[in-house]
Amino acid sequence: MKSVKDIHLSGKKVFVRVDYNVPVDGNLNITDDNRIKATLPLINYLIDNNSKIILASHMGRPNGKKDPSFSLGNAAKRLSELLNQDVGFMDDCIGEKVSKAVDGLNPKEILLLENLRFYNEEKKNDELFAKKLASLCDVYVNDAFAVSHREQASVTLIAKFAREKAAGFLLEKEVQSYYDSVENPKRPLVAVIGGAKVSSKLAALENMLNFVDKLIIGGAMANTFLKAQGVDTKGSMIEDDLLDTAAAIVKKAEQKGIVFLLPKDLVVAEKLDNDSDARQVPVDGIPDNWMALDIGSKTCTLFKEAIHDAGTIVWNGPMGVFEMERFMPGTKAIADAIANSDAFSIVGGGDTGLAAKKCNVSDRVSYISTGGGAFLHLMEGKKLPGVAALE
Ligand code: 3PG
Repeated sequence: MKSVKDIHLSGKKVFVRVDYNVPVDGNLNITDDNRIKATLPLINYLIDNNSKIILASHMGRPNGKKDPSFSLGNAAKRLSELLNQDVGFMDDCIGEKVSKAVDGLNPKEILLLENLRFYNEEKKNDELFAKKLASLCDVYVNDAFAVSHREQASVTLIAKFAREKAAGFLLEKEVQSYYDSVENPKRPLVAVIGGAKVSSKLAALENMLNFVDKLIIGGAMANTFLKAQGVDTKGSMIEDDLLDTAAAIVKKAEQKGIVFLLPKDLVVAEKLDNDSDARQVPVDGIPDNWMALDIGSKTCTLFKEAIHDAGTIVWNGPMGVFEMERFMPGTKAIADAIANSDAFSIVGGGDTGLAAKKCNVSDRVSYISTGGGAFLHLMEGKKLPGVAALE
């Protein structure tokens, strides 16, 4: 895979696929601009190298319709503020008007195109659409790690039609950080996995068994593992169809000599409500109809001890319903333990990135991924289609 550094860029039209799929409030104001900030090193490099810069992204899932509530207009404004430079914005991503605007770019100028997913062809990985996008540029650069697990026109097929293609700095950094942490890790390598469902992380869990030394399971997914071990989890969220699978994972971990840790105690409540009457109980002491919503303090101590001597930590998924203050302490305790350790710590994006931010550890871990699904894809041991397309 070529790096953008290997390409002569001066005067060339460079199409950069970014992922500006950022959270917005009801007035479309951007509430977290991390993904935009993460592309600044590449954009500044392109400016310094006199490129004509075309940026393209998706935003949300508008189902192939032009819907102003999914517009990237505010992303152009935010980028312009961050760069302290004008950023042009087009209300479309293909067509004559766009081609004209692109041809009128001077070196160092930037144009952000409107949401690629206003065309169904983007998600369908349509050849003609990919050709139209590729025709806008001399060089295609993928810097959109967070969407690189998708086979979509601007992520994969475009690379076939662009004259030159390369990886951007963010894509390189994300992929490198992940592989550094799992392929040649400083041991012990500890995976901390949480979140709601075993099903969404099953492939990742199975793959992690190939290289971790310790596997820590928290969040609602721990309930399914606990039930598989005979614990009566009462009203807790469970995936009954995965009980055998969960038991098989525990067995495989034991056979491989992996330290496999599940909660010993839980914070439980009758309702999923911040003001509900919540209490800490051992895993086998959940009152009838109550549900587990966080790990308890004994579990925090157990998990912290396992994290303490880690050489490398991969963290994906919160330990409880961290969005509610009442059920945040477990996630906060583990986030602090990860941040306070001397380990190289890599944090998967999506919910885990949000949890790290809420727990104030974003600046104290080694790396937070901008990708949710893409990070999980790597954890599953799969190659990213967006990376394969550059090879
Ligand atoms: C993400 O936020 O995970 C990426 O932007 C991909 O978005 P998608 O899940 O809608 O493809």
